Amino acid sequence: MLSEIKSYQRSIEKFRQVFGTEPEVVTSAPGRVNLIGEHTDYNEGFVLPIAIDIFLCVAAKRRSDRAVHVIAADLDDWDEFSLDQILRDEERNWRNYHRGVAWAIQQNGIELKGMDAVVASDIPIGAGLSSSAAIEVGFALTFLHLVNADVPRPTLAQWCQLAEHKFAGVQCGIMDQMIALLGKANHALLLDCRDLSHQLVPLPKGIAFVVADTGVPRTLAASEYNIRRQQCEEAVQWLSKLLDRPIKSLRDVNLEELGQVFNDMPDPIRRRARHVITENNRVWAFQQSMREGSIRRAGSLLLASHASLRDDYEVSSRELDAMVKALMSIDGVFGARLTGAGFGGACLAMVREDAVERVLQETQIKYKTALGNGSPEPKLFAVRPSDGATIRNPSS
Ligand code: GLA
Repeated sequence: MLSEIKSYQRSIEKFRQVFGTEPEVVTSAPGRVNLIGEHTDYNEGFVLPIAIDIFLCVAAKRRSDRAVHVIAADLDDWDEFSLDQILRDEERNWRNYHRGVAWAIQQNGIELKGMDAVVASDIPIGAGLSSSAAIEVGFALTFLHLVNADVPRPTLAQWCQLAEHKFAGVQCGIMDQMIALLGKANHALLLDCRDLSHQLVPLPKGIAFVVADTGVPRTLAASEYNIRRQQCEEAVQWLSKLLDRPIKSLRDVNLEELGQVFNDMPDPIRRRARHVITENNRVWAFQQSMREGSIRRAGSLLLASHASLRDDYEVSSRELDAMVKALMSIDGVFGARLTGAGFGGACLAMVREDAVERVLQETQIKYKTALGNGSPEPKLFAVRPSDGATIRNPSS
């Protein structure tokens, strides 16, 4: 229900207040949680995210000129630029997301019109729930709607990704934009990041998903993320040489082949490769378990994913490890792992539906006790697998 989305109301109210008129369109874009398949998307591998019931909304109205005015309702900040000259903003990074998508759409041959817009978001920033893809997708759909242009959603996801690469400076994969655009209630999206083919995986009844934000924002995310990406490229070069065949991405190598040459590869490159290859296998096993309702097996795959991200990919942190441990000590939790890029942010837990309330309360205490004095303040909440981005006419 739209009226239940807090950011929906906030975006409309702020729009009225600032521009003195009604918005023509309100686009809502969801946050996401990746169930499994971490750091596989930019290796042309597999991912299994869900869109969640926490949204960012863009309320907008077309202008007759080429100016774009954007008010950030939650940041008490604004932006103004011309569609004829779209530049990066070196000081305020949030501005680069909507600027980036406007640039990427025009770069692909669609001429946009100016607009007045307000963005309001309930997706916490830095928690690893992909507020960045939501802002890209929210603005991209709004800009296109105002010029009556229709672009296939997978293509639009690629344009949003391009915007993030060129304007926000993160060499992200395609997962976040795809799920924000293609999510469906009660389903996860099994996505092949090589060709963007995808299928919906129904989620069994009786389980719920809990997000456990460690309270530590993802500080190193951009720089360390780009380093991991480079290391995977190096791994591809090593494997092409050692296996003596052309390899395009880590997707093209199986675990047995990696085993044959593992000792000839340098560390940590070979462990980065091992994470990606085993994680791809876990995605398949996990989606199969979901279809069969083998919840315990799915839970152990989540734990194996966390261990691999911690030991082989080295993107966990003391707080993320403590959170997984706290979650796993509570009855009714089937599995848990860090979700998103890592280096801070949140964990995901798959729990028995009737245990949610207890998990929310007890984990908090256990986490804080484990980290002792000065422990960051965690935030736990249940999320529901939801639909992807939608465009509404607020007056109808
Ligand atoms: C970030 C990126 C995604 C993906 C994850 C890690 O969220 O935006 O493309 O690479 O990290 O799985």
